[in-house]
Amino acid sequence: MANAQLGVVLVTGGAGFIGCALSQKLAASSERWVAVDVMHPQVHQTAERPADLHSAAELIVGDVTDAAVWDEVLASVRPDVIIHLAAETGTAQSLHEATRHADANVVGTTAMLDALGRAGHVPARIVLSSSRAVYGEGSWQREDGTVYQPGMRSHAQLEAGQWDFPGARALPSSVDATIPSPTSVYGATKLAQEHILAAWVGALDTELTILRLQNVYGPGQSLINSYTGIVSLFSQMAEQGASIPVYEDGLITRDFVYIDDVANAFVAALARPRASGVSRYDVGSGVGTTILELAAAIAEYHGAPAPAINGAFRDGDVRFAACTIDRTLAELDWAPQWSVAQGVAGLQEWIAAQA
Ligand SMILES: NC(=O)c1ccc[n+]([C@@H]2O[C@H](COP(=O)([O-])OP(=O)(O)OC[C@H]3O[C@@H](n4cnc5c(N)ncnc54)[C@H](O)[C@@H]3O)[C@@H](O)[C@H]2O)c1
Repeated sequence: MANAQLGVVLVTGGAGFIGCALSQKLAASSERWVAVDVMHPQVHQTAERPADLHSAAELIVGDVTDAAVWDEVLASVRPDVIIHLAAETGTAQSLHEATRHADANVVGTTAMLDALGRAGHVPARIVLSSSRAVYGEGSWQREDGTVYQPGMRSHAQLEAGQWDFPGARALPSSVDATIPSPTSVYGATKLAQEHILAAWVGALDTELTILRLQNVYGPGQSLINSYTGIVSLFSQMAEQGASIPVYEDGLITRDFVYIDDVANAFVAALARPRASGVSRYDVGSGVGTTILELAAAIAEYHGAPAPAINGAFRDGDVRFAACTIDRTLAELDWAPQWSVAQGVAGLQEWIAAQA
């Protein structure tokens, strides 16, 4: 699926998990592939160039919130395509470090656009890695068949152990049917990114593709970032012989999508003919998995003790997050290939090789 027509590509956050995976697929066939990344210490063990970043990729170490960094970058790089990945990604952390998340995610986006304005440059295409976090709890269906969006679970509700919305069942989210309603500061900043970029491309008559990613996991994900990457965290616990603690009643549900499938979704989005306006796609496996099922599969792989459901909770945690990928399947030359069982095994092998 390599795309020789990409031209000059600028990838913010390009030295991270998704950026490196994408570089392996596209950097060699691009005219230039320039990653701008601050090498955040919560994500990167050292500020050294990551081994997973393709050798054809240039790496500029810099902060996307810094106007001077942008002016310097755009003085020598005139991107045909910008893939905007740079972000603070700690969903729970963002409740208590809201300014930090807003700064990187919101100001990081506006600083990029202002710098493009100063440079008098409009890329032909911008691709944003948005998140399933924009949906919050999404839509639920009552027993009488009516569908509603319940908003977020209150602290009192969680303290009472009422994990679900009574008398209703969760529905998968979709770009076509679910009104975004984030329950985390992180989700709100990702939605702000979508709105800011949509307004900008609308005014400047260029193109924005928004990929709303579900829970991405797999080889290359930071093993030191304890604020994100639940599959990696669980894997390291089980590998050390610990029983994995599982919140609520174990039935929090997520769509876990393997990194290779996600990178291929970006490749497919970039391979589409260019057009003005905004396109939105859900990128997931299309399958919901409970956290207990995930933990049990990882524990079994390592022969670790069974996971322990502990009834703990985190404010702002979404109960159910999965998506339908119908539009993505129909419009992009893409389909997910990895089941959770295959992906979990692939990740364990990679983690073992890092030791
Ligand atoms: N991994 C997931 O499950 C997931 C799910 C949904 C959306 N996303 C989105 O995908 C994107 C990439 O996520 P990832 O999983 O590769 O995370 P990651 O943390 O591995 O990569 C993000 C990169 O951005 C860099 N960065 C952070 N702040 C920066 C700043 N101010 N200036 C420049 N660089 C900065 C970090 O150093 C890191 O290399 C993010 O926008 C995230 O919101 C990820």
